[in-house]
Amino acid sequence: MTCSAEGPFDSVDAVGAALAEQGYITDSRLATTVFLQTRLDKPVLIEGPAGVGKTELAKVLAAATGRGLIRLQCYEGQDETKALYEWDYGKQLLYTQMLRDKIGEVVADAATLHDAVTRIGAQESVFFSERFLAPRPLLDAVRSEQPAVLLVDEVDRADEALEAVLLEMLGEYQISIPEVGTFAAHQPPYVVLTSNNTRDLAAALKRRCLHLFLDYPSAERELEIVRSKRTGLPDALAEQLVHIVRGLRELELRKAPSISETIDWARTLAVLGADELSAQVLADTVSVVVKYDKDVDKALGALPRLVDPNAEVPVSLGHSHDHSHGHGHHHGHSHNEHHHHDGSDVDGAAVRAAKDAPDRFDDGYYGNSSGKLQRLPVNAGQGSRSFARRRAL
Ligand SMILES: Nc1ncnc2c1ncn2[C@@H]1O[C@H](COP(=O)(O)OP(=O)(O)OP(=O)(O)O)[C@@H](O)[C@H]1O
Ligand SMILES: [Mg+2]
Repeated sequence: MTCSAEGPFDSVDAVGAALAEQGYITDSRLATTVFLQTRLDKPVLIEGPAGVGKTELAKVLAAATGRGLIRLQCYEGQDETKALYEWDYGKQLLYTQMLRDKIGEVVADAATLHDAVTRIGAQESVFFSERFLAPRPLLDAVRSEQPAVLLVDEVDRADEALEAVLLEMLGEYQISIPEVGTFAAHQPPYVVLTSNNTRDLAAALKRRCLHLFLDYPSAERELEIVRSKRTGLPDALAEQLVHIVRGLRELELRKAPSISETIDWARTLAVLGADELSAQVLADTVSVVVKYDKDVDKALGALPRLVDPNAEVPVSLGHSHDHSHGHGHHHGHSHNEHHHHDGSDVDGAAVRAAKDAPDRFDDGYYGNSSGKLQRLPVNAGQGSRSFARRRAL
């Protein structure tokens, strides 16, 4: 690591190179955000669908800068004592018992109960001092001798109260403890917050952060990621696979396949020694990438088309201009245009009902693959659309 006066990275490109060395493939938006974070000392808030590398970014940033990673995993009902600090009650009690005699002396000649309580009260600061403080991740990050990377993971799961607690930390890199005082970080940690956007975060929080929406990667970047994981799948097949996964993301799945699923699928196919991506081998392994029953059905329905757009499709699916995905044999690109949902153009229930019809897979449904791949002209907005869809569920 070469440290310039201002930060660990000399340029945006240096960020990309350093993270790539840790096995993390960036694009220029991502690398720029990280570069700015290290120069402006601002937290980064990363929002995006599951499995696009939000958490991983914090880990590789720590590795690339030689900093320790301190992690706060957020969850519903979490209170600040799990995020900031709590008083070590057990230790306080232990000390009180060990010091019984001494405490006895303090109150020995107290005339009344009230007097005794007042005298004990005067000693309170002994027990509410740093010695009895049990630091939690945020305080850890502030007190750390070595600068750290603080990962506040899935902040949208936390309650709004906890979000408010974060503000002092995010704005000033300090934490105030009424009984003790204010701790300020020697050197600000790099803070990475992640969110799946299950709810809107407070404007006050967003305002303190650099914001990055991390979407599914471009085909090129996803292929690069798959390559970098050395899955053992031949390059040409990996390229096909990436496009097929992108096709699956276009379906209205409950959980669209993420980067990690693409990687898993590549490994699975490599283990099976696949030398071509037939609809059959993909169907046999599809549960690696889609994890819900209904999603599996939808994926199975779409695979033949994704592998080979000229695949025969049962007539029962119908040929009307609905949004079912099982047909690829007419009017060129137009079936893809069907995916350009603007949220108002589809009778979603009807479409799903059509897709869920029980007898749509007849014999030979998978058997018609030539193994050729037709590139789907998947456009860059696909991730944000399925993301938006997920939020709407
Ligand atoms: N840019 C990338 N370069 C290399 N690998 C990546 C990249 N993005 C994602 N991955 C892979 O995908 C996996 C999942 O990423 P990660 O756990 O960071 O997802 P996430 O966005 O935090 O998802 P979730 O919202 O479910 O927590 C990582 O373990 C990593 O293997
Ligand atoms: Mg994560």
